[in-house]
Amino acid sequence: MSYYESVKAHPIKEDAIILAIESSCDETACAILQGRNNLLASEIESSMTEHVRFGGVVPEIASRAHTTAVSTVVERALQKSGKSLQDIDAIAVTYGSGLLGALLVGVSYAKALAFSLGVPLIPVSHIRGHLAAIYLADKELKPPFISLLASGGHTAIIEVKSYDEFEILGGTLDDAVGEAFDKVARVLGLSYPGGPNVEKLALQGEPSVQLPLMLKGKGGYDFSYSGLKTAVINYVHNQTQQGKEVNKADVACSFQKAAVDVLIDKCILAAREKGLNCITAGGGVVANGYLRFKLAAKCEKKGIKVVLPPKSLCTDNAAMIAAEGYIQYLKGNFADLSLNAVARVPLK
Ligand code: KG4
Ligand code: ZN
Repeated sequence: MSYYESVKAHPIKEDAIILAIESSCDETACAILQGRNNLLASEIESSMTEHVRFGGVVPEIASRAHTTAVSTVVERALQKSGKSLQDIDAIAVTYGSGLLGALLVGVSYAKALAFSLGVPLIPVSHIRGHLAAIYLADKELKPPFISLLASGGHTAIIEVKSYDEFEILGGTLDDAVGEAFDKVARVLGLSYPGGPNVEKLALQGEPSVQLPLMLKGKGGYDFSYSGLKTAVINYVHNQTQQGKEVNKADVACSFQKAAVDVLIDKCILAAREKGLNCITAGGGVVANGYLRFKLAAKCEKKGIKVVLPPKSLCTDNAAMIAAEGYIQYLKGNFADLSLNAVARVPLK
């Protein structure tokens, strides 16, 4: 039987076992998921330490690291799940958005694996994966709900109408919130990745630095982070030029508050205006402790349910790719073996 005949003969099963591969940035990851949310294994190798001295991810270094790590994470995930390759019903893979060379490693590996096993190949959008991670956190959760997407490349408020149907209510007009965290970290002399380091420093500070509120209280569901980032840069430079000491912890704390409060306010506004009583979130910035605490506290007061993925499922991983892969699997949304990596995939 040819590969395509074998895929055509494949019966769609509710409890299918999906092996997912993610390699869009500096994490090489593999996960194994049974059905919608029974996560059997989730393994990650990161090349982060190799990028730190460059102040950001170096694509060529990331790609090379993926080539050496990909089979290791796949073997480890299989071992942890107690499954063998013969048990796998489909292969899901991130085909975009991300670094092209990095994505290509995962895509090539996934194609070869799907071909050799004669099982479907499911192309998954990384961003949709971030949104789908929530189904692993709360097994009872079902759409509709409002979802906040906050990562290094995206900031958006989304009305999730069904597993596969979205409406983007608003998004950033310039920088993504994670990007702003990374740039502010750099100005404060903190190492990459900026977000977690800004969060750590902010714990020791007070929100005493006056910063612009951007589109807080206006602009519908849209955001703007470039002005906030510039205001932080200008503040630090002005203080330094005047020979004044910069309290970096206060700057980090003030920035974090300004960056996060507007996200929370607009999520709550969206839930109220759309008549939905549940807010979820996904993406690296959702690992931020201040965001998690403040969102939960504000929503509790308003009687809105909040469901957040554990921090390990907020930053890049393959479990979320498997979760979205399962949604696409049920729809029979398979790729052929000409699947290519794509640098930017629109959310819709
Ligand atoms: O979702 P992600 O891992 O990769 C993308 O798809 O972009 O998000 C990475 C972003 C980076 O900008 C990083 O600084 C930010 O998420 N991030 C955080 C935290 N952890 C990661 N930002 C604020 N606080 C954190 N704890
Ligand atoms: Zn991501």
